[in-house]
Amino acid sequence: MNEDIKEILITKDQLHMRIKELAHQITTDYKNKNPLIICILKGAVVFMTDLIRMLEFPLEIDFMSVSSYGAGTESSGIVRIIKDLDTTIKDRDMLIVEDILDTGLTLDYLIRTFEERMPKSIKICSLLIKEKNDPRKQTRLNVDYVGFRIKDEFVVGYGLDYNEKYRNLPYVGILKESVYSN
Ligand code: IMP
Ligand code: MG
Repeated sequence: MNEDIKEILITKDQLHMRIKELAHQITTDYKNKNPLIICILKGAVVFMTDLIRMLEFPLEIDFMSVSSYGAGTESSGIVRIIKDLDTTIKDRDMLIVEDILDTGLTLDYLIRTFEERMPKSIKICSLLIKEKNDPRKQTRLNVDYVGFRIKDEFVVGYGLDYNEKYRNLPYVGILKESVYSN
């Protein structure tokens, strides 16, 4: 285990098993639709590439890169598009693949942006959803495919970063407090 990790929350095997189940559901829903699968960079890249290799039907992929201003562990709510889609989404069935929903502000902004371009449908697949301690802070967004619901803690690994580090860990884990204070 990485020396900065306090606890493994979701193991490599648990990730694999759950993603297989999600892939099964997504196959039932999309196998004749040639969907456009959108990866939200950078966090969702590990999840998305594992997921699409379990989908044995025609699909296309594209990437969108957004950033909430600033580094650190709190979402700012101000979203900036760094890289837009290359694909025209009008009349397409879209599946947005995200790593984690925290406040939901990032995805909320993205969905409003995509809706203006008139796709046929938009659904969301998020590997993780954070259950907020304060119910008023819980996101109102309807997520169609959810990997795991986790408690309100900052996690890294399997694509998720802290200051751009730890994305390559094969599991989802919690950092030691000493890492933040450095
Ligand atoms: P939201 O806008 O608050 O839902 O936050 C969305 C983005 O913040 C995610 O796509 C992640 O990139 C990042 N984020 C939120 N929580 C975490 C976390 O626990 N670890 C790493 N990144 C996170
Ligand atoms: Mg992200």
